[in-house]
Amino acid sequence: MKNILFPFLLIAFFYQSNAQHSIIPIPVNYVANNNEFILDDQVSLNLQTKDEQVKKYTEQFQHFLKENGINNDVSTTKKGKKTIDIIINKKLQTELGNEGYTLEVNQNTIKLTAYESAGIFNGFQTLKQLIPIETISLDNNALNQIIIKGCKITDYPRFGWRGLMLDVSRHFFSVEDVKAYIDQMSQYKYNVFHWHLTDDEGWRIEIKSLPKLTEVGAWRVERYGRFGEDREAPKPGEKTPYGGFYTQEQIKDIVKYAADRNVTIVPEIDFPGHSMAALAAYPELSTKKEPKSVSPGFKFAEWYDGGTFKMLIENTLNPADENVYDFVDKVFTEVAALFPGDYIHMGGDECYHGYWDEDPKVQQFMKKNKIKNSHELQSYFVKRVEKIVSSKGKKMIGWDEILEGGLADGAAVMSWRGMKGGIEAAKMGHEVVMTPTTYAYLDYTQGDHSVENPIYANLSLEKAYSFEPVPEGVDAKYVLGGQGNLWTEVIPNLQFAYYMTYPRAFAIAETLWSPKENKNLDSFINRIENHFDRFDAENTNISKAVYDPKVKVYLKDNKLMCELNNSVPETEIFYSIDNTYPVKFAEKYDGPFEIPVGKLNLCTQTFQNGKAIGRELLIPRTELEKRAGK
Ligand code: ACM
Repeated sequence: MKNILFPFLLIAFFYQSNAQHSIIPIPVNYVANNNEFILDDQVSLNLQTKDEQVKKYTEQFQHFLKENGINNDVSTTKKGKKTIDIIINKKLQTELGNEGYTLEVNQNTIKLTAYESAGIFNGFQTLKQLIPIETISLDNNALNQIIIKGCKITDYPRFGWRGLMLDVSRHFFSVEDVKAYIDQMSQYKYNVFHWHLTDDEGWRIEIKSLPKLTEVGAWRVERYGRFGEDREAPKPGEKTPYGGFYTQEQIKDIVKYAADRNVTIVPEIDFPGHSMAALAAYPELSTKKEPKSVSPGFKFAEWYDGGTFKMLIENTLNPADENVYDFVDKVFTEVAALFPGDYIHMGGDECYHGYWDEDPKVQQFMKKNKIKNSHELQSYFVKRVEKIVSSKGKKMIGWDEILEGGLADGAAVMSWRGMKGGIEAAKMGHEVVMTPTTYAYLDYTQGDHSVENPIYANLSLEKAYSFEPVPEGVDAKYVLGGQGNLWTEVIPNLQFAYYMTYPRAFAIAETLWSPKENKNLDSFINRIENHFDRFDAENTNISKAVYDPKVKVYLKDNKLMCELNNSVPETEIFYSIDNTYPVKFAEKYDGPFEIPVGKLNLCTQTFQNGKAIGRELLIPRTELEKRAGK
């Protein structure tokens, strides 16, 4: 009898206990108990360690509570009956690692224990998420008490590299914006901020020995319109009011701000391609040495099938020029001194070789150095850069193009064109970070194109959630982790950056932190609703595209057919194809239907308990025909 029932009880218990929290990323182990801890002004935050970083994290939590109407002491002696105990326990090393923690919520104590300060930081993020949303909404902090449900959590990350990348070249984000972005990601236990600091559209880091990089390279003409499509090229003598850069003092401040949130910054200086801003400052570092401007996002490349392309304006450094290596050395000397982390990212992506192929001096250089083709020439450049980076005591990481022509010893690879590059590098014993476009590109739209700022590809929340960074046949020890990348060609402000980042960054956080076997899409979709409320309470933008119907059209017997879906449970989808409104009073979707011939729109929306929860999509038949390939 006992044996028969046991598995069912276990399953029932698992679902019951998980239903009691909305923690993202889902912890390794969560067990509910029947206690309740009442958090009010009487509770003291009891620091049982002298660790300065832990003290700082505790004060951050104290500040968070204060913002929500609760005032607590931080003390090193246990005061009063009710405490939140913060404990560093060196015996926990093996189980929890540096970033894990245990969190026990009972009637009179909350006990947060870790082996290292990073674990305490992560534990506080979980504790914040255990606080019911009703008590942290903006107008509700008159309550003066927070009820936290009893539980015991044991938690630690699957991967050590849990990153988000922010491109600050296409759009310049202020120091305050960057800090806010880092603060938000740290709450979901991301620990790497990959800072894409240079590109064709702006050089954003002060290099004191090369002042023109920011005097010239940080500024461009003002343009609106679609990036890479209808923006006009700079005119001769035109003013360059748009842009900005981070001074070295500001960078030190941001590095410290990040460290105080358990985030390490990986700076990226994108060489030898994507260098138009650097070349606007120092055109002598290109083959043609022609003067040029920082790009405002005008069309200067032609793209062909298979990801090949031609740069209509030279945006690459000249790998045959010794002065280029002196330049790179100067840049990385200052970069290495500013960023205490182990890694420096040297870019290496999308480097056009056409200007190298055309240049007689480059060809001569290749002959002299027995370099057979432009891929080998790029590899020569990457290997020289790797030597420069490692001479500064850092490890070099680059986009997967650095594999072409032969990978530099010791270089780590960031795999973005799928997982192929990562697999190849890991098989050669190199470290890899997986960040494939197919699962991790946060600049791709997440909802129907009719209601999004369009870009060339789409990545749904569900697809992002299915990301698995360790491909079959790869030794997991070479996979440092993964990362979501936010390119900002069509992202002109911080709030829209949040919209594009979340909730897909929740999905990626869960992949990178939680055990693979704890991942479950239905449970995840249930938990994100609570985080929508948290973002709403903080007036922070977040995409709710997951509520929108997913429209799939196809041709069947020459008829235009339509299928509607979404992943949110207990919802109904309504639609109309007769140009009537509102859609709530039209048809309830119960299976694929035909879109009749005529000048009409598909109108569709998702409802929950009779209330609209997704956006209303309005898509002309002509557009649907295009989507079906007609
Ligand atoms: C990249 O997306 N060009 C790395």
